[in-house]
Amino acid sequence: MKVHPQIYIILTLPRNIYIMLAGFQDLTFEFGARAIVEEATWHIHPGERIGLIGFNGTGKSTLLKLLAGEYLPNAGTVERSRTTTIGYLHQDLLSFDTQESILQVAMGAFERVVQIQKDIERLGIELEQTEDEKKLIEYTDLLHEMDVLDGYNIDHKTEDVLHGLGFKQEDLGRPYKEFSGGWRMRVLLAKMILMQPDLLMLDEPTNHLDLPSIEWLEKYLLHYQGAVVIVSHDKYFLDRMVNKIVELYQRRLNIYTGNYSYYEKEKLVRMEMQQRAFENQQDFIRQQERFIERFKAKASKAAQAQSVQKRLDKIERVEEASIERPNIRMNFNVDKTPGKIICSIQNLSKRFGDIEIVNGAKAEIERGDKIALIGANGKGKSTLLRIIAGREDFEGERNWGHNVEESFYAQHQLESLNLNYNVLEELQMAGSKKTDMELRTVLGCFLFSGDDVDKKIKVLSGGEKARVALAKTIISKSNFLMLDEPTNHLDMHSVDLLAEALDKYEGSLILVSHDRYFISKTANKIWEIVDGQVVEFKGGYTEWVAWKERMALKEKAIEKDGEAQGTRHEGQGKDGKAQGTRHEAQGKDSKAQGTSLPTEGWGKEREIEKAKKKLQRQFEELESKIAVLKADKTKAEDALADPRIYSDKTKFQEAEKTYQQINGQISTLENQYEKIFEELMNLG
Ligand SMILES: Nc1ncnc2c1ncn2[C@@H]1O[C@H](COP(=O)(O)OP(=O)(O)OP(=O)(O)O)[C@@H](O)[C@H]1O
Ligand SMILES: [Mg+2]
Repeated sequence: MKVHPQIYIILTLPRNIYIMLAGFQDLTFEFGARAIVEEATWHIHPGERIGLIGFNGTGKSTLLKLLAGEYLPNAGTVERSRTTTIGYLHQDLLSFDTQESILQVAMGAFERVVQIQKDIERLGIELEQTEDEKKLIEYTDLLHEMDVLDGYNIDHKTEDVLHGLGFKQEDLGRPYKEFSGGWRMRVLLAKMILMQPDLLMLDEPTNHLDLPSIEWLEKYLLHYQGAVVIVSHDKYFLDRMVNKIVELYQRRLNIYTGNYSYYEKEKLVRMEMQQRAFENQQDFIRQQERFIERFKAKASKAAQAQSVQKRLDKIERVEEASIERPNIRMNFNVDKTPGKIICSIQNLSKRFGDIEIVNGAKAEIERGDKIALIGANGKGKSTLLRIIAGREDFEGERNWGHNVEESFYAQHQLESLNLNYNVLEELQMAGSKKTDMELRTVLGCFLFSGDDVDKKIKVLSGGEKARVALAKTIISKSNFLMLDEPTNHLDMHSVDLLAEALDKYEGSLILVSHDRYFISKTANKIWEIVDGQVVEFKGGYTEWVAWKERMALKEKAIEKDGEAQGTRHEGQGKDGKAQGTRHEAQGKDSKAQGTSLPTEGWGKEREIEKAKKKLQRQFEELESKIAVLKADKTKAEDALADPRIYSDKTKFQEAEKTYQQINGQISTLENQYEKIFEELMNLG
């Protein structure tokens, strides 16, 4: 579904934009000697939709904790209106553990009502024995409050919302901890929907969701009346959801009034302006310095030179406009070459109660395969991966090939890190037989330098934890990787670097990811779980999408044929009907296909097919152009690092300019690439 955020802005224009719900005034916050944010001011108004962005580890989650009152600032103030209610979804929501059922967790939204219920019960019993007037008054007051809060309906309300979010009645009593990440997130969201806070803060919500659930969340948020602050590294999601971007960069908050795409463009403009201001200021400073140099020794001008110097010292310096990006350096190495077959599974069956994951499935992973396992939440992608990794019981056969050395990056890998170890200890425990020096070198590539390796895992940000987990995978030098959602928590730039590293990797891999861009960059085979079987497609993601479309059109044609021959009077086939009769290998979950294909006849279908082909061509062209530019970029980077060039100012400036130009071109093309990708998805 295409969403038009602009329309939404008009509909939900806040009643009073000048009321501030929460915010910072000249706020500074430090962890020990490290400042996260300095003198920042940010006001959040009713109905605003804000995307909070920044590279991994810059302090986004910390800002939310400050807003929620979990941390106190070192200087400045956190402002919150007395009546503002805040709902805060933590990034590490899996660390929230409870024995409660999902119904009980969601009902946590009605803390006050639940408390009143308990008090009423207690007082009721006490009043049977005494006739204490004070207690009687307390009792009637509580009954009144219960009425006002509509407290007698909370069970119904909670059940309704949980049903709305896809939970079945029989699930409601099941313990929260039995559910997967995506479903837990829905339970916590249900709690927030019921709380209806004025300010909803979501820290990387899409990490735990698959595509259909992301779409569900988008629809929900679109109708949300309160203000929303979302931390996310998902560009599409941000573009749809927010109309303001707050960027945390080098301890400052930069505010952009637009969505993510606007931010990208505007940032370039601002950088150019800053660069010009920097150059002008540098000219001015040089001129003044020449003046001082020339006159400071002359008695008649010395005083003047001194005052120029003083003025110069006081000048607020404009920084040079350059983006410092966290460049992690990954290189997945292989120790041994395995045999031709990595792993084969036969007659594989697995079920959880009534839910069947696979039934008599068969599949083979060959050397050189880079497989993406895709499909909706609950289809069993992670389960299948865990079976292959030997972390889950199953019926049937699973055989490893010769010389295979595997490494598994689990979906909740971050949670399996030992919170009390420091970064170096965590790597020492990985059993790589590397010396501390060697481990430090690896950690350096993952941006943990010097004292950082002494940091305890528990204080690391989401992206930093992901980097530790990836470093552990790398030092294993395995020739077969099993990766479950490896891009979770990584910022966009790091995702790109990971995709590049996996592309270069000489081993084989199987991965699960909800990031379409990432899949299209890494996979050469696609696996789907359909009706208990593993269906393999020999080709990359783009080809798979095109194949799916062709199959859908073919089905449609057969169906139309059928209708034309007899049942035309019943009207054009509805989407649901088209899905129901679809070929088995297509699966029943192809929601996107079912809902977006037009049903008005052949002419239109042909047009759509033509449009798709055209897009497909453009997509491929862009892909190869980007590949060429990336190669140019590497050359340009090499040039910048070449001492013959960086020691010569003019040459260096030229090389720098070329580098910037290439980067600009890449980002423009990547924008187009993503747009086309999106259009293709919408058509299919
Ligand atoms: N209690 C703490 N003590 C010391 N340092 C901390 C503590 N908590 C967080 N940090 C550090 O502060 C920095 C900011 O952390 P934060 O979790 O806010 O980052 P983030 O922007 O949310 O990153 P990500 O995108 O990776 O989630 C990180 O370098 C982290 O290691
Ligand atoms: Mg974070």
